[in-house]
Amino acid sequence: MISCVYKINCRLIWLFVLLFSLPGSSGAMDNATFLQQFTYNYEEQQFNDQLDLVRLNKPIIPGAVADLVKEAMSDKQAFEDRMRQLNIASAIAYMYLHWHQDDSLIKLVAPLIQKELLKEQKRTAEIMKWKKEERFLGNFVMKQHEDEMVRQNLSMVLYPHWLHRILYECKVCHNDIFKMKRWEGNLSHQSMEKGALCGTCHNGTAAFAMHEKSDCNRCHIAGSPNAEHLHHPEKVKQTAIKEMAEKIGAQWRPENLPDGRLPLDRFRFIDWMKLKENDVFTPVASLDKNHTEEIRDNRILFASQSGFVSDVIFDHKIHSDWIQCATCHPAVFKDELGANKMKMTDMSKGFYCGSCHGKVSFTFADCLRCHKKTTGKLSMDESRTTDALRRPAQPPLNKTP
Ligand code: HEC
Ligand code: HEC
Ligand code: HEC
Ligand code: HEC
Ligand code: HEC
Ligand code: HEC
Repeated sequence: MISCVYKINCRLIWLFVLLFSLPGSSGAMDNATFLQQFTYNYEEQQFNDQLDLVRLNKPIIPGAVADLVKEAMSDKQAFEDRMRQLNIASAIAYMYLHWHQDDSLIKLVAPLIQKELLKEQKRTAEIMKWKKEERFLGNFVMKQHEDEMVRQNLSMVLYPHWLHRILYECKVCHNDIFKMKRWEGNLSHQSMEKGALCGTCHNGTAAFAMHEKSDCNRCHIAGSPNAEHLHHPEKVKQTAIKEMAEKIGAQWRPENLPDGRLPLDRFRFIDWMKLKENDVFTPVASLDKNHTEEIRDNRILFASQSGFVSDVIFDHKIHSDWIQCATCHPAVFKDELGANKMKMTDMSKGFYCGSCHGKVSFTFADCLRCHKKTTGKLSMDESRTTDALRRPAQPPLNKTP
């Protein structure tokens, strides 16, 4: 069956299929045509047409439903598509009972739907179980090798991005030590003991080692009450951070904190920009002594296309201070002014700005940190935009590229 990416395209496809497959008499209809027509009417909520189709096509319906169920249950089907198809099968089954007094199709479809819903419940429960451990932005639970850890009675690993961010710029780890994507690299002790991944630093010199029995639970700590200090940065002893920083050649100056506390944003995550503005920290920029900084010092204006939000200014300098050019270009953005057609919906799915924001950097819920509120549009506010590059006009949003 045709899978539909965009609802609009989908309708057109069904309409096309309908126009060219209308049977001379309903008796001549085959399974595929029946399913196409039923699905079209189902999605258009043409209830009477659905009923007619089931009334007129009795002989082929058990076969058609079997085809649909087979496709729904195939391994490559995503949960949402599978449920959509099973729901259609279920609608046919109930109409079949109504017209033809036969409940065999319901008996086929209903248990499958129940089983799938149960499976999905279990899956989301598993995710939610760990969500709690990831409630602080950038705290990741690492559990690719869950079975081996369970076998050795170890907790899963909790990786605190924020603590490492105080000590190191992003460019130290991304992308030389870690890809900027979870679940893509295989994190195993075999590689780490050879000095890769976490073992680049956790070798007993820069940071505590990985092979000391007494230290296993400093990383294998997810879900344990001892992990509290990693979920509440404001509770960490400033002197401890200062010591860690000095040991590796970074700097932490708690005396510059306005009220002696870590600045938090509206969502109680660390406000890194405030830390930077108050000159509280100087993370290590590279593990390589001969490293040269590559900074791009300009700002780019994203003119708002919506009367609803103000413009966005992207500061290249702030970003390239912390982040390697190669982390963003070309993997996340083409390095050409206006070449990236980004929409808010793509970003909230983790693309473009959403590759970092909402995962490790401040979250999308904080609209006004990007769509800065001023009186009138930013593009008219000269003081903020005299040095900003303007992107060429973008196509209107309602046009699909
Ligand atoms: C000390 C090392 C280290 C530093 C410094 C670091 N990260 Fe990471 N980052 C990691 C690790 C480890 C992962 C997970 C990789 C994996 O699961 O294979 C990761 C993953 C990510 C991801 C992927 C998230 C996802 O959901 O796929 C993003 C985004 C990210 N980091 C952004 C940043 C940013 C932005 C900075 C700087 C502000 C930064 N990181 C600093 C180690 C680091
Ligand atoms: C670029 C160097 C670097 C890399 C890579 C790195 N760390 Fe660290 N990590 C440190 C330093 C330095 C500290 C501070 C602790 C110390 O001084 O021993 C630290 C501290 C920690 C802590 C806090 C422990 C505590 O008791 O407060 C955890 C947990 C941790 N690292 C886990 C990891 C994990 C898991 C990885 C790999 C996914 C990793 N780190 C990769 C340098 C690194
Ligand atoms: C610096 C952090 C760190 C320390 C310390 C550490 N581990 Fe791990 N460990 C990890 C990470 C990261 C993984 C991969 C997690 C995943 O599966 O996603 C891991 C995975 C494992 C696994 C399953 C996969 C594999 O490679 O075998 C076992 C078993 C394990 N650790 C045992 C230990 C033991 C035993 C100790 C103490 C002697 C220890 N770890 C100390 C970070 C650490
Ligand atoms: C956080 C991600 C990020 C980082 C890091 C980054 N860029 Fe960009 N870059 C962007 C975005 C976003 C645009 C705008 C693209 C658009 O208009 O569609 C851009 C545009 C550009 C452009 C075209 C506009 C201009 O500034 O002339 C160039 C060239 C460029 N980047 C080079 C670099 C270089 C060199 C570095 C490293 C010093 C770098 N970028 C670091 C995100 C980044
Ligand atoms: C590779 C990771 C990454 C990507 C991609 C990225 N950012 Fe950021 N951004 C950061 C980091 C790190 C900070 C520092 C603050 C923090 O982490 O909360 C930051 C800070 C900011 C700030 C606050 C600084 C300022 O200029 O006042 C804004 C606004 C911002 N980003 C907008 C954007 C926009 C818009 C995009 C997409 C065009 C984008 N970012 C893409 C990592 C990223
Ligand atoms: C990390 C920065 C960032 C944050 C946070 C952010 N936006 Fe955006 N937003 C952008 C960028 C970049 C664009 C693209 C501008 C363009 O080229 O049209 C955009 C575009 C938009 C648009 C124009 C229509 C569209 O889909 O592109 C709307 C509406 C919008 N944002 C609403 C919001 C709302 C509401 C929030 C808070 C829930 C929010 N944004 C948070 C960066 C951000």
